[in-house]
Amino acid sequence: MATTILVGAQWGDEGKGKIIDVLTEQADVVVRYQGGNNAGHTVEVGAEKYVLHLIPSGILYPGKLNVIGNGVVVDPLALLEEIDHLKSRGIAVDGNLLVSNRAHMVLPYHKVLDAIREQSNKIGTTKRGIGPAYSDKVGRTGFRMVDLLSPEKFSAKLRLKVRETNEIARAFDQKPLSFAKINADYLAAGKKLRRYIVDTIKLLNRLERDGRQLLLEGAQGTLLDIDFGTYPFVTSSNTTSGGACTGAGIPPHRIGRVVGVMKAYTTRVGEGPFPTELLDDQGAQIRETGKEFGATTGRPRRCGWFDAIATRYSVTLNGIDELAVTKMDVLDELPKIKVCVAYKLDGKLIDTVPADVDDLSRCKPVYQEFDGWQTSTKLIREFEDLPKRARLYLNKIAQLSGAKIGIVSVGPRREETIFL
Ligand code: GDP
Ligand code: IMO
Ligand code: MG
Repeated sequence: MATTILVGAQWGDEGKGKIIDVLTEQADVVVRYQGGNNAGHTVEVGAEKYVLHLIPSGILYPGKLNVIGNGVVVDPLALLEEIDHLKSRGIAVDGNLLVSNRAHMVLPYHKVLDAIREQSNKIGTTKRGIGPAYSDKVGRTGFRMVDLLSPEKFSAKLRLKVRETNEIARAFDQKPLSFAKINADYLAAGKKLRRYIVDTIKLLNRLERDGRQLLLEGAQGTLLDIDFGTYPFVTSSNTTSGGACTGAGIPPHRIGRVVGVMKAYTTRVGEGPFPTELLDDQGAQIRETGKEFGATTGRPRRCGWFDAIATRYSVTLNGIDELAVTKMDVLDELPKIKVCVAYKLDGKLIDTVPADVDDLSRCKPVYQEFDGWQTSTKLIREFEDLPKRARLYLNKIAQLSGAKIGIVSVGPRREETIFL
């Protein structure tokens, strides 16, 4: 296995955490390359369930190196909490976790600004300060992990940033933030995190040249990408495979494979167009069966049928070689299953995702209907053993999406996986 990128092919929560976990067995290093603790990646091992927000989903495999790449925005307090939580559950986090010194930080004022912006311009964010932290990065006024290692410089710059944010907070009737508290909290966090903060670029490229297997873990999904998603209802980073190179510091020609994770249906959290959304009992049933509630915010996820226009766009954009189809088992009981094969926009058939969200909002899905297999797939471990109708469905969604299937997931646990 050459360096592999794993991306979400829909609107996030495709089951990336689970698939990273199963692929980690063959990898040496897992690198998160973008996003922050807006992500919630679930891994179930035996009777234990772990939700990872910043730490790569490879952490549950002993002996693998896990790296938070330069493209991630890190809330140091959230990271410490996650480290402590894992340690309290007996997971080793020392010696196998590193954080790029170039990764930008999320500070408390980013969360304040996130909440203020949501009042007038509702995206339905996770309120983790992600957008404002990336805005500061691009605006060249951000803090990076390396800054935690120079307390005096950190404090001087922080004082200005807190003053600036408090002006805005006042204008929106928000409580002002305390420079002293943030300064003390973050410098204390810096002391604890110091041992994890390194220059990951040199290290990752050396490991890669030495023949180690790198697995680059994306967060969110293609339709939430800042450039290619349903703008402005997106997250603030490049979730797609190009973002893996810039967010990990690995050159494009060293990438050997791109895996796209997609659910056998579709979900979305937050605002924004969702052509195949089911607002009826069918949607509620999928939400119940699939336990579709956010791993980070607990919000109910919007549920709908599989959208092959969206996934074909993802396959093209990311260069997906192999698909991992998750949550097949959630469709087990359904008598009929629909797949969106085209959009109808103002009476005209189209087969691409329009750039304008208002156009996408007006798109009506054109469906092809399939007979359900109506039998449990949870215990099946070989593709050939799946019911014929399930195989037919999988082959159809792969063909419509334009890539071959490498993995089918029939349950949240490690072993509930079919490799093709
Ligand atoms: P991620 O953000 O892409 O890592 O996905 P999440 O962890 O937010 O959401 C996926 C949810 O589906 C988690 O609760 C997983 O444990 C669960 N899951 C993953 N694969 C499967 C599957 O094949 N079947 C079922 N029933 N659940 C799955
Ligand atoms: P994982 O990695 C699903 C959504 C939010 C909101 C939009 C912007 O678990 O798949 P943000 O806080 O990033 O500024 O919110 O993006 N969103 C996600 N939806 N899965 C995620 O992560 C998400 N991370 C952000 O709901 O619509
Ligand atoms: Mg998630």
